[in-house]
Amino acid sequence: MADDLKKGLEGVLVAESGLSSIDGDVGRLVYRGYTIEDLARGASYEEVAYLLWHGTLPDEEELAEFSDAMAAERDVDDAILETIRALVEADERPMAAMRTAVSMLSSSEPEPDADPADREASLRKGRRITAKIPTILAAFERYRQGEEPVDPDPSLGLAANFLYMMTGEEPDEVAAETFDQALILHADHGLNASTFTSMVIGSTMADIYSAVTGGIGALSGPLHGGANQDVMEVLIEIDESGLDPLEWVEQATEDGRRIPGFGHRVYSVKDPRAKILQERSRELAETGDSKWYDITTTIEDYLTDEKGLVEKGIAPNVDFYSGSVYYQLGIPIDMYTPIFAMSRSSGWIAHVLEYQEENRLIRPRARYTGPDERELAPLEER
Ligand code: CMC
Repeated sequence: MADDLKKGLEGVLVAESGLSSIDGDVGRLVYRGYTIEDLARGASYEEVAYLLWHGTLPDEEELAEFSDAMAAERDVDDAILETIRALVEADERPMAAMRTAVSMLSSSEPEPDADPADREASLRKGRRITAKIPTILAAFERYRQGEEPVDPDPSLGLAANFLYMMTGEEPDEVAAETFDQALILHADHGLNASTFTSMVIGSTMADIYSAVTGGIGALSGPLHGGANQDVMEVLIEIDESGLDPLEWVEQATEDGRRIPGFGHRVYSVKDPRAKILQERSRELAETGDSKWYDITTTIEDYLTDEKGLVEKGIAPNVDFYSGSVYYQLGIPIDMYTPIFAMSRSSGWIAHVLEYQEENRLIRPRARYTGPDERELAPLEER
């Protein structure tokens, strides 16, 4: 057995997958052969979830059936709502509250004893999870605002319904479309840390609830899904400091601070998702506050042209622009990472189901660097 150590599993192939492909050298992302640009322009989040789970885009009839089935699964049990309320009262953060509530969803699962190897049953469970996560998150926000949750509206798509449940008002077309696109862009991305976490859990033939709950935990860190919040916090810090954005960036790089929303393990050029979100941010700026678009673009140009970061392979990633787009849509900052999870749940589920088809327990090794041999002294002599 080879003893090569690959820290962070960088570049290590651990599975075959037909779900998403990333070319990090040219900035290309496809889901099952469709470019992310085409999907963002021409599909809805539900169509993308269907594509990931079933392998093909749905026709009209299939989409209507699938969307109706998803919409019919949006309600969550009162016990879960009560738990969310209690977590809000305990000042829990939304990402952690969501992790707890998603784990708790299994308590109302109508097929609790289905064999995890039963792909169709796991898919039904996965569909329920993806349908219910927006309800969980929106309820969290409503309780936090001192309001009661808003019942889901089955006539709205998943993206528009989430904004509706969170605010109590139906979003306008631009907001609904922009948010739907953001969800599409986050739905899948190869074997990132959270997807791999879900796969590791799935490879033990644990159920899909455990896999999604684990994925949420992995996504919460600042090196992964947490970066979108960090980006917005930095933009606000810059704005409130009254500093020129470039002075701030100069100082931050001198201090050795990492610029959130820059750099990626796979992309050495600008992330294609960042390009699409930058464009949406520009459009939102035309009718609203252009400050955030201006600051992000100024920083990007400076880091690219003056600091040569892109030449070093450190370019804007999806989070650099998702933060400001969500802010422009009026979404609270600490909801950004949970929203990432809301979208990525479809990717986690797709990868787990795909991997389980030809399952092999994921079980790597560590090179032991501890002492070779020690004498065990009795407790009283240590
Ligand atoms: N700002 C400044 N320098 C950076 C940055 C950054 N954001 N990211 C990487 N570098 C430098 C880093 O200091 C190192 O330089 P040197 O070789 O001189 O020490 C070099 O680039 C390589 O960094 P690394 O940490 O070895 O690269 P990695 O592949 O392990 O890191 C990353 C990828 C995403 C963890 C890292 O770029 C980072 O911390 N970025 C900021 C956080 C962020 O935006 N995360 C979101 C990732 S995209 C969304 C997702 O898929 O989850």
